[in-house]
Amino acid sequence: MSILTETVLPGIVQITMNRPERKNALDRACYQGLIDAITAAEADPDIRAMVLTGAGGCFTSGNDIKDFAGAAETGPRVAMDYLGVLSTAKKPIVAAVEGFAVGIGTTMLLHCDLAFAGKGASFRMPFVALGLSPEGASSYLLPLIAGSKRAAELLMLGEAFGPEIAHEAGLLNAVTPEGGALALAIEKARALAALPPQSVALTKMLLKRAQAPAVAETIATEGRLFGERLLSAEAQAAFAAFLKR
Ligand code: COA
Repeated sequence: MSILTETVLPGIVQITMNRPERKNALDRACYQGLIDAITAAEADPDIRAMVLTGAGGCFTSGNDIKDFAGAAETGPRVAMDYLGVLSTAKKPIVAAVEGFAVGIGTTMLLHCDLAFAGKGASFRMPFVALGLSPEGASSYLLPLIAGSKRAAELLMLGEAFGPEIAHEAGLLNAVTPEGGALALAIEKARALAALPPQSVALTKMLLKRAQAPAVAETIATEGRLFGERLLSAEAQAAFAAFLKR
């Protein structure tokens, strides 16, 4: 199973990306598993908060590059559906990051309500180096939370950065000792689950409401351009180089 779900405490479901032999790279089955897990949690009246994490000391190395390389054959990208479900979820989502959070592994944090990372975490949005372009509404939300200069640095240069910079950029609530992110995420999810659920949901809705139309529009526009870039010679050469290493 590439996505594991477990009720870790009453009212709290932990959703774990579990493909450790690929650093939890997300293939189509993983995205579908994430969609199913969030949809099930949203529909279950007993669930009040979700914790999103990765197995084996790694969050996720991002989209599976093999799937990127075969984009011409695979048709519509289920990643787009995942971003839609994640960005419009009504119940709180708390992320716990250890190890690598690459590509969508970083941008999905923009849609989580709270996010924590261990000291050893490493973030990167290598879209440009891969011949691609930003996704996940990062081109809209990152300048908003991090400022335009920091957003340009992280999205245009696309270098790896540590949890302190991720914290400064507004991607994280706090940095924990290495290995401590999940425990803190569960603690915060437990605090959320103990609060009146309708009030929590209303507050989440109000926090997202003003930006929601722009987020949806940006996800769609980025997705169209990203889909075109996937087929470009620049991107296909970058995927081939990664897969040949
Ligand atoms: N897609 C497909 N396979 C991936 C992958 C991905 N996104 N990330 C890692 N893997 C595979 C590697 O090819 C390797 O396979 P192998 O054992 O058959 O050689 C295995 O997972 C382990 O990864 P490895 O690169 O050996 O681990 P590492 O600790 O040295 O480096 C990363 C980890 C995440 C820095 C590195 O794997 C990486 O840069 N991955 C690509 C990230 C990326 O560009 N994602 C897309 C973003 S848009």
